[in-house]
Amino acid sequence: MAQSLPLIPQPKVLQKQEGSFVLSAATAIRFDRQLSVETAILADKIERLTGEKTRSVAEELRIMLSSEIALDLDSSLALKPGGYEMTVAPRGVKITGKDVAGAFAGIQTLLQLLPAAAPMAEKSVSLPALKISDEPEYGWRGMHLDCGRHFYPIEELKKFIDQMAFHKLNVFHWHLTEDQGWRIEIKKYPKLTAVGAFRDSTPPYGNRNSDDGKRYGGFYTQEQIKQLVAYASARHITIVPEIELPGHAAAAIAAYPQFGNTDIPGYNPKVMTRWGVHPYVFAPKEETFRFLEDILTEVCDLFPSKFIHIGGDEAPKSQWNQSKFAKEVMQREGLKNADELQSYFIRRIEKFLASKNRSLVGWDEIQEGGLPKSATMMVWRDLKWAQHALDLGNNVVMAPNAYAYLDHYQRPVGEELSKGAEFEAIGGFLPVSKLYGYDPASVARNEKERKQILGVQGQLWTEYMKDWKKVEYMAFPRIAALAEIAWLPKDKKNYEDFRVRLDGVMKFYDALGINRAVPLDPPQKKTKDGSVIETSLNVHADHAIEFAYDGRANTFFWAGRELKKDDHITLRLKSPLTAVARVTVQTGGKASQNGDRLEKGELQYSVDGSTWIKVADFSEGKASGSIPAQSKALRVLVTAPQKFWLIVHEMTIE
Ligand code: ACM
Repeated sequence: MAQSLPLIPQPKVLQKQEGSFVLSAATAIRFDRQLSVETAILADKIERLTGEKTRSVAEELRIMLSSEIALDLDSSLALKPGGYEMTVAPRGVKITGKDVAGAFAGIQTLLQLLPAAAPMAEKSVSLPALKISDEPEYGWRGMHLDCGRHFYPIEELKKFIDQMAFHKLNVFHWHLTEDQGWRIEIKKYPKLTAVGAFRDSTPPYGNRNSDDGKRYGGFYTQEQIKQLVAYASARHITIVPEIELPGHAAAAIAAYPQFGNTDIPGYNPKVMTRWGVHPYVFAPKEETFRFLEDILTEVCDLFPSKFIHIGGDEAPKSQWNQSKFAKEVMQREGLKNADELQSYFIRRIEKFLASKNRSLVGWDEIQEGGLPKSATMMVWRDLKWAQHALDLGNNVVMAPNAYAYLDHYQRPVGEELSKGAEFEAIGGFLPVSKLYGYDPASVARNEKERKQILGVQGQLWTEYMKDWKKVEYMAFPRIAALAEIAWLPKDKKNYEDFRVRLDGVMKFYDALGINRAVPLDPPQKKTKDGSVIETSLNVHADHAIEFAYDGRANTFFWAGRELKKDDHITLRLKSPLTAVARVTVQTGGKASQNGDRLEKGELQYSVDGSTWIKVADFSEGKASGSIPAQSKALRVLVTAPQKFWLIVHEMTIE
């Protein structure tokens, strides 16, 4: 029963109780005065469901309410910050937050129990009685959005904030500057937007090395930004702005060329019209630092976030290596190379942010030339960078491209592109199940390191997301998997259960008109006909033993260790063969990797299930031969130890 409630993330502890609570237009909210903002948000949602005004009364008014939702606070609850307790009982719903954010999280749980479509068809809805005690595993539950490559209306961002809140995500990492566009109004430097917010062309879908020749651009005014920050704050979401430096800065340098490496041959900065990594980086001049500090001063005035993201990724060193001025700075500062100049650059910015009582976050390249002490590293490439930061005592946010880049395909590329060029993605493959399977704490070797992992974040890089519909397509439903791995400890995760709940949650997306994708379901771990297959080997990743006999050519079994003599794979057929048949077993992966094929082994059959008769030896990773009618079982027997692992493709019996 608990499994069927469409809650994502799943609460940490949920117990079903007897009975139910009936919510209707007569239900009123009784609230602690510190929760007036949260109460208004809940009341608004209930009004949309019932079509009638919801009554809210402050807690101290002892008015008798026949049907109530009570919102309360209790800092003594033995929960992490952001935790809450909730009961649904026939007399009412009670949500008690450890803090205000916790009460808000509890409200989201309640909203997920209500009907997806508004207004309700019936005048009331019955909620199952239950008790929940819930708290987040991670404090940083983030979603990133690149508004540099493409620009989206602020109204869409507000809706996105709502949807993040619905899933208890709490950090919106707003990527505001790029080679292809500067999107934040800076009063002191108006050309950043007058020039930097517009480009002359964009690659069309389907041809990334081409140009559409259309002028494109836009930016957010400071007034709009303040409104979004306040909107997010009311929903317990912190907006972490990102101002890219020293690289991904071509648009800013095009607007103010004096802050680039002006002394290099062919210097001619432009707002970029193609994707990829571009050479324009800021010059290490005192005027440039003043310029960046002025920008960051306005940024800090707009964004109350403790963390300010300064990019730091993909800053080519070619211009610094060409620039006489940059080389003089390296000499003056005793820097060995351009990597150390990058680190010098980052450290100066870190110091400036510290003077404003802010903390620097940067992509994992901020370790080039030495990681600044108090910096938080956002790990996007190899997990070894996380290890490196943890060793140095720095905090990390896990945002690895292999598991958390939502610009990757979520269904097979051929299938997507057959629907139209607008389904193009940058590349990669991240089905919802793969994201769900990611453990943000996988790099932690002990409890101390676990605590240095602040959380996990999904990335939406938008080269291939020209409009908001495409952003939705890439974000949903994968955002649900992200939310669950950010909220639930690893031992509480369960993909099959999540997948059932996701069907319920997708009804909310559909009711809101979100242009979601259809999740790609991983192949079921079942044999094709109910035959039983087992092995003495262990399974690597998701490559279940059943995949060796599931009727699908694109799945396979993969054993995740070296082989010992007498290791086996045994297939017991659902019913004995009625005629002579030919069996074939093909093992091995790509030849270039030497195989993972079976070097020494026998293919055997049995008619009584216990006496085994050899059909053939494996040769070049393959065995085949004829087996008699009445055969009940097949076995692959390893006859000598081997160093390589083992891949077994579909076993065929014809
Ligand atoms: C990145 O994807 N360049 C952080």
